[in-house]
Amino acid sequence: MTAKPPTADGESPRYVAWSEDAALAAIRSLPAQRGPLLPILHALQGTFGYVDPRCVALVANELNLSRADVHGVLTFYSDLRTTPPGRVRVQVCRGEACQSVGGRALAEHATSSLGVAFGATADDGSLTLDEVFCLGNCALGPTVSVNGQLHGRVQTAQLDRLIRESAPNGDRA
Ligand code: FES
Repeated sequence: MTAKPPTADGESPRYVAWSEDAALAAIRSLPAQRGPLLPILHALQGTFGYVDPRCVALVANELNLSRADVHGVLTFYSDLRTTPPGRVRVQVCRGEACQSVGGRALAEHATSSLGVAFGATADDGSLTLDEVFCLGNCALGPTVSVNGQLHGRVQTAQLDRLIRESAPNGDRA
């Protein structure tokens, strides 16, 4: 029971509301394998859009690990979220290749124009802004991802337009 990926037109993926049953289904959807903790955390994030802290005990119980072990992995990886994401998810690449072709200015524009710090979600839940350190599109930087869709050679006006067009129901209009 994982969420659908973003659509080609950038529409937000639809996540499942958190429930213990849905969490257990996601945890148990993966075949037994060595080192299943990280894939399970990603499956939970794929299902709910984030890994609810209530999942820690469930995962620990299913894998016979301590809660501290699960919590440690969950909080180590910056791409795992423990709070629900905004309706539009924007990632701005801050890797060296992108920084050298305008990524720094684009990042400054993103935080100032959106009024959201990196790693934060707007108070109204309309948008989450994250920094990442390579999206695998280095030759076409500066690179951003909006709702999972990659965009290269992005300038400030284009970033504004991408966010406006991805926002449902006039969010961020
Ligand atoms: S450094 Fe930005 S995509 Fe690789």
